[in-house]
Amino acid sequence: MPTATTDVQPPLDGIRAYKSLSNAQLRDRIQAVRDAMGPELLILGHHYQQDEVIELADLRGDSYQLSQMAADSERCRAIAFCGVHFMAETADILSNRPEKLAQRGGQRVRVVLPDLAAGCSMADMAAIDQIEDAWDQLSEVIDTDRLIPVTYINSAASLKAFVGRHGGIVCTSSNARAAIDWAFNEANGGSGGDRVMFFPDQHLGRNTALGMGITNDQMPVWDPHQELGGSTEERLRQSKVILWRGHCSVHQMFKAEHVAMFRERQPGIRVLVHPECPQEVFELADQSGSTGAIIKAVRSAPPGTKWAIGTELHLVNRLKQEHPEQEIHFLSPVVCMCATMYRIDLAHLAWSLENLAAGTPVNSIEVDEETAKWSLVALERMLQVR
Ligand code: 13P
Ligand code: SF4
Repeated sequence: MPTATTDVQPPLDGIRAYKSLSNAQLRDRIQAVRDAMGPELLILGHHYQQDEVIELADLRGDSYQLSQMAADSERCRAIAFCGVHFMAETADILSNRPEKLAQRGGQRVRVVLPDLAAGCSMADMAAIDQIEDAWDQLSEVIDTDRLIPVTYINSAASLKAFVGRHGGIVCTSSNARAAIDWAFNEANGGSGGDRVMFFPDQHLGRNTALGMGITNDQMPVWDPHQELGGSTEERLRQSKVILWRGHCSVHQMFKAEHVAMFRERQPGIRVLVHPECPQEVFELADQSGSTGAIIKAVRSAPPGTKWAIGTELHLVNRLKQEHPEQEIHFLSPVVCMCATMYRIDLAHLAWSLENLAAGTPVNSIEVDEETAKWSLVALERMLQVR
């Protein structure tokens, strides 16, 4: 951890000015803010962040763990979220939920996203008006009172609020199975639903549901650009899980032939992938899990284990550095990097933290009260199922 050599500096005039500083200068400036704010500041970092950013995070985790950290935060008054937009929104909702606000005498935790352009292309594949339109169309064909919406946490707060209002649940890659199980068995006040509508990631939805014995025939994919999602009334009536036509452009790059290539070249290799990978890759893998589960699998493996890992490049490279006793390969021959996560760099972090310390915050993420209220309903369900 770097040592501060300076007092907190007054903010420079805009992000451009920070871009001209060296990493060492930026680290010192960031550290000075951390020292000055102490436990009032919490820097959260997702595992896909670049090394120089993750080194400065107070806590790091996968989406589920980071949500829990935001929900449990006691002393902090500001969170700098080194991740993407939906994660910062979730942190805002959870850290400012009514009982937390009451404990703090109404004082909000301010959440900042160092670069507002750090979005998630998958989350952007489902807009609230498209979801509402799909729901309206579905209500003409099936009983939507018994259709339970499940949204992956990689979605805008407006979608989480929709899910909260319609008796559904948010899930992450680490509890998707439990969330779908909840939808079939415990939603609707305990009677459970007949069907699930899962958005925005078709792959996580499909991979999880296949593992629960639901077949592809029972999982039409809803294309928001087509009438009835490009499906038929018959198909929708027979469905168990309606999948949204969304995907992660990073994980979509891993292919079955990459798995075959590693298996041929490196007998005994273990293929470990994130469940956002397409079905054909997921099914060929030996293990799968959230970013947190991937790290845990590598940490607990015996020295000499060979891995081909299918998830974002920064995390795989960090695992390689941290585990020289194991042989770790990236599952794809091409670069699969999350360009939006990568937008968070030391310059943006220093810029947002110095403005926070100076009382002139930039890039605050504040979810409106009504959206936050309904999102919270669905997020609290998520935190209860595991
Ligand atoms: P995790 O919940 O596994 O950290 O995944 C988040 C994400 O966006 C993966 O693309
Ligand atoms: Fe979104 Fe994919 Fe990036 Fe995760 S890796 S934040 S799903 S674009």
